[in-house]
Amino acid sequence: MTTDRVLAYLAANQDRHLKQLLEWLRMPSISSQRKHRADVVRAARFVADELRDLGLTVDVCRRGGHPLVYAESEQRPDLKTLLFYGHYDVQPVDPLDQWTNPPFEPVIEDGKIRARGASDDKGQVYCHLKAVEAYVKQGLALPVNVKFIIEGEEECGGRSIYDYTEANADRLACDAVVISDTTLYNETTPAICYSLKGIAFMEIHVRGPAADLHSGSYGGTVQNPANAICEIVAQLKDRDGRCRVPGFYDDVVELDAAERAAFASLNYTDEVLRRETGVPGAFGEAGYTTLERMWARPTCDVNGITSGYGGEGAKTIIPASAVAKVSMRLVPNQDPAKIARAFAAYVEAICPTGVSCEVVNLHNAAPVLVPRDSAMVQAGLHALEVGFGARPVFIREGGSIPIVGTFQQYLKAPVLLLGYGLSTDNIHSPNESFHVRNFVCGCRTTAVLLANAG
Ligand code: BES
Ligand code: ZN
Repeated sequence: MTTDRVLAYLAANQDRHLKQLLEWLRMPSISSQRKHRADVVRAARFVADELRDLGLTVDVCRRGGHPLVYAESEQRPDLKTLLFYGHYDVQPVDPLDQWTNPPFEPVIEDGKIRARGASDDKGQVYCHLKAVEAYVKQGLALPVNVKFIIEGEEECGGRSIYDYTEANADRLACDAVVISDTTLYNETTPAICYSLKGIAFMEIHVRGPAADLHSGSYGGTVQNPANAICEIVAQLKDRDGRCRVPGFYDDVVELDAAERAAFASLNYTDEVLRRETGVPGAFGEAGYTTLERMWARPTCDVNGITSGYGGEGAKTIIPASAVAKVSMRLVPNQDPAKIARAFAAYVEAICPTGVSCEVVNLHNAAPVLVPRDSAMVQAGLHALEVGFGARPVFIREGGSIPIVGTFQQYLKAPVLLLGYGLSTDNIHSPNESFHVRNFVCGCRTTAVLLANAG
């Protein structure tokens, strides 16, 4: 009965909730760009104010970086406790000219909210807030204790939440951590995610001459850093897409037959991949299906290369330096620190003569595997089924949510990854969007979870 009232409230207030979400989406909380610091603070204040308005005790703290928003309801010892994690920071917006509307002037079109942060992660976090609101504003007692920790440094590799979690494990104590920062399996199939990839994010700096040189005057006499970095990058993977860093695959846990069969039963085809991405064909390590590579094999990818002149027309130089950003997505049981060391040693060993090479480890996160047999996962499956009106499946994700490993380690509570986004939401890319339907069903799902997690 209570659940009916809660779901009716959500339906009746949907338009207002959407308007409020758009207000949050107007705040350009790009955590990696200094010029947006004040916007990041505004976005933190927005969510802090909302949580306060729900009657929660809110604490906004700074640990050197962007604000961390913590909130809790009155904690009753006889109730179970759910800790909701999410992030209010967003990725940069370039290339700006590819957006059909400015990224921080949200629009709703074709059933989608389009704005930076719509799916990753403001829209998903907002589902949790509105589900709690549906209880609180109707004077209904919350069926569980709730805690929220919403950070502003997820997208930029910030440390604040790690320090906070280690120092405040008691405060964050809970029966489950609930995170909506992943995806449904597809438009019609909700999912619980049970594995996230880890990451080792590296930068390669190649340095040659003290300044750019005239490529005629000095050509043929010195090593070219742009050519050199291409040589290095070309040796990171073989032609089949296998990473050539020595020891890279040593600790990878292979999929067992049951998991491979479960993946296969999802019927993911390369045709779907082509449609979703626009590529002419799939590519990757031999011996694995596309879904296996996407979800359970480690990767090594250049995220950007910078060197020399990229502007209009010709400029004849030998560039002084070159930089490549390379991320390796890791799977259980790879150790990011060990992989980062192996990567640095390999790159230094293959660095061409005539330039110097420095490898920097920018940030790491551990891969995550969560058990599928906890009571919370059962509660999550039920909530998704009611919320979305369809049977959920189990999936893995190729993306990372860096804090999850730390939560597992310090809070020792099961983690529930209830994604409300879609892999076609264009997160980290122009025209990020979030389906209105997924927002609505996400609010419903969290509301049902609150009711049956106790
Ligand atoms: N929400 C994503 C993680 C994600 C990506 C889930 C794709 C499902 C599918 C998260 O905000 C994110 O982008 N994480 C970064 C972490 C990185 C900066 C350490 C990522 O995966 O690139
Ligand atoms: Zn995210």
